[in-house]
Amino acid sequence: MISRTIKFVWKNKILEVNNPDPNETLLNFIRLKLKRTGTKEGCAEGGCGACTIVLAEENKNKLIYKAINSCIAFVPTLHGKQLILVEDLLDKNGSLHPVQKAMVDYHGSQCGFCTPGFVMSLFAMYKKNKSYNHDVISDSISGNLCRCTGYRPIIDAAKSLNNKKINDKFETYKKKTINLLKKIQSNTISINNGKKYYAPKNISELKEILNKNPNSKLLSGGTDLSLTVTKERKNLDSLIYLGGIKELNYIKKNNSFIEIGANTPLINVEEYIKKYYLDFNKILKRYGSVQIRNVATIAGNIATASPIGDTLPLLLSLDALIIIENNKTKKIVKLKDFFISYRKTKLKKKEFISSIKIPIYPKNIFKAYKISKRFDDDISSVCASFNFEIKNKKIKNVKIAFGGMSAIPKRAKYCEKTLKNKEFSNKILDKAKESLLRDFEPISDMRASKEYRIEIAKNLLTKFFAEIQNKNRIELKN
Ligand SMILES: Cc1cc2nc3c(=O)[nH]c(=O)nc-3n(C[C@H](O)[C@H](O)[C@H](O)COP(=O)(O)OP(=O)(O)OC[C@H]3O[C@@H](n4cnc5c(N)ncnc54)[C@H](O)[C@@H]3O)c2cc1C
Ligand code: FES
Ligand code: FES
Repeated sequence: MISRTIKFVWKNKILEVNNPDPNETLLNFIRLKLKRTGTKEGCAEGGCGACTIVLAEENKNKLIYKAINSCIAFVPTLHGKQLILVEDLLDKNGSLHPVQKAMVDYHGSQCGFCTPGFVMSLFAMYKKNKSYNHDVISDSISGNLCRCTGYRPIIDAAKSLNNKKINDKFETYKKKTINLLKKIQSNTISINNGKKYYAPKNISELKEILNKNPNSKLLSGGTDLSLTVTKERKNLDSLIYLGGIKELNYIKKNNSFIEIGANTPLINVEEYIKKYYLDFNKILKRYGSVQIRNVATIAGNIATASPIGDTLPLLLSLDALIIIENNKTKKIVKLKDFFISYRKTKLKKKEFISSIKIPIYPKNIFKAYKISKRFDDDISSVCASFNFEIKNKKIKNVKIAFGGMSAIPKRAKYCEKTLKNKEFSNKILDKAKESLLRDFEPISDMRASKEYRIEIAKNLLTKFFAEIQNKNRIELKN
C-alpha cells in the first residue's frame, strides 16, 4: 500500500504526520511541532551532538537503539521507528533515568547546553551494551562536544552505570513498542507537497520509482546530502530514501568476497570487518561519530566521491568492486575506474549502487592510517591504505591508495610499480617514497598544506615498512 502519511511511535502511541515537508529536519520538527526543546541545535551539521536523539527500530522481535543527529535527519525518515527524546527518559513518577541520575551525581553538566545530547548518547550506550568500559564510553560520546564541563565527570558518570543496569520503562514497554512498530512498517511512502519524497520497501519498487523520477536524489544515511539543506540552504526537491529497503541492508561472504548491501550502516560494517581487516575497523571507529555511523553507508561515501572520503582509499587498495543497477541492467564496476574527477563519478541517472564487494586476501598484509587534525570525529587530511603480498621477503603484489592527495581518491601506481617484485627492505623504501611525487600533486587547503601532505604520505609508507619489520604497531600515545 502506498501512503503519504508517515507513522512513528512516540510515548507508547502511534503518531501520524500527513504529507510532511521532506526537507524538514527532525530537530525542527521536535522543537517547533512537538514543542520539546530539550533537544538543542549547535552546529546543524552533525558535528556537535547537541541535537542527539535516539531512534529504536524493530528487528527480529528486538529493539535496536540508535543515537542519531536529529539536525541532519529529515522528518519522513522517522516512518516505522520509535522516537525517544531526552524528555521521554523520566519515569512516570518523575524520577530520573539512571543515565540522567549519573550525570547529576557525577556533576556531568555545567551550562547544560550539551547535556541532553550527552544523555541521549549515553542512553543509547546503556541500552545497547551490557557493560561500559573506557573504549565503549569514549566511542559512545565521541560525537558530543562539551565546552565547559570537560569530559572527565561525564566519563565517570558513564562508568558508574556499570552497577546500575535496571529494567527501565523502555524494557517494561518493550513488547508493546514492538507490536506498535510492526503495525506501521508495511507502507511504501510517497509524499508530494511541492517537494517529493519516496520510500520504497524493496528493490523492484526502487527501480520503478527511480526510472520514473530520474532527477531524484538518493538518500541513504543523509549524513552528506542533508547538509545541502541545513548548510547550503538549498532545497532537495525530490528524494528517494533507501533506508526502508531491507534487501539492501546485509553483509555476507564467500571464500573470495565480503559483500555489503548499499544500505548497511557503517556501525554494522565495523564489527564484521574486524576479523578480516583490523585496520578497516580502526578507521571506521574514527569515522565521524556513533551518531554518524549509525546511519551513514559505504555506498553514500562512494557516491559522494569526496577526495577525503575515508573508506575510499581502503576500498581502492583492496581492489573493491561496486554493483550498479538500474531498472534493466546490473553491472560490476571496479572502484578504481569509478571516480572521474573532483566529486564526479561514472554513476548515471536512474542508476544506484546496490552493493560493494571487497575481495578477501588471506595471505596479505593490510594496513590503513588516517591523519586528521583531531583524533575523533574529524575528516582526514590524508588517509593511506596498503595491501601487500610478501613471500620470502619479496613483494609479490602491492596495492596502495591515498585519500587527500589529489582531486579523487586514487591508487599510487608509480609507487606500486617501484615496489612490485622487489625485496621488502629499506633499500626500496626510499625509491618508493620518491615515486609518490609522480603519483600525486596535492593541494593546500584548510586541512593541510601540500608540503605537509607529501611529507605525511612518505612518512606513512615509512611507518608501514617499520611496522611490518618490527611486527608492531607504532602509535603515539598521549
Ligand atoms: C559530522 C560528520 C562527520 C563525518 N565524518 C566523516 C569521516 O570521518 N569520514 C568520511 O569519509 N566521511 C565523513 N562524513 C561524510 C559522510 O558521513 C559520508 O560521506 C557518508 O558515508 C555518506 O553516507 P550516507 O549514507 O549518509 O550518504 P547520503 O548523505 O545519504 O548520500 C550521499 C550521496 O550519495 C548518494 N547515494 C547514497 N546512497 C547511494 C546509493 N546506494 N547509490 C548511489 N548513490 C547513492 C546520494 O544521492 C548523495 O549524493 C561525515 C559527515 C558528517 C556530517
Ligand atoms: S546540532 Fe550539532 S550535531 Fe546536530
Ligand atoms: S556543560 Fe556547557 S557545553 Fe557542556
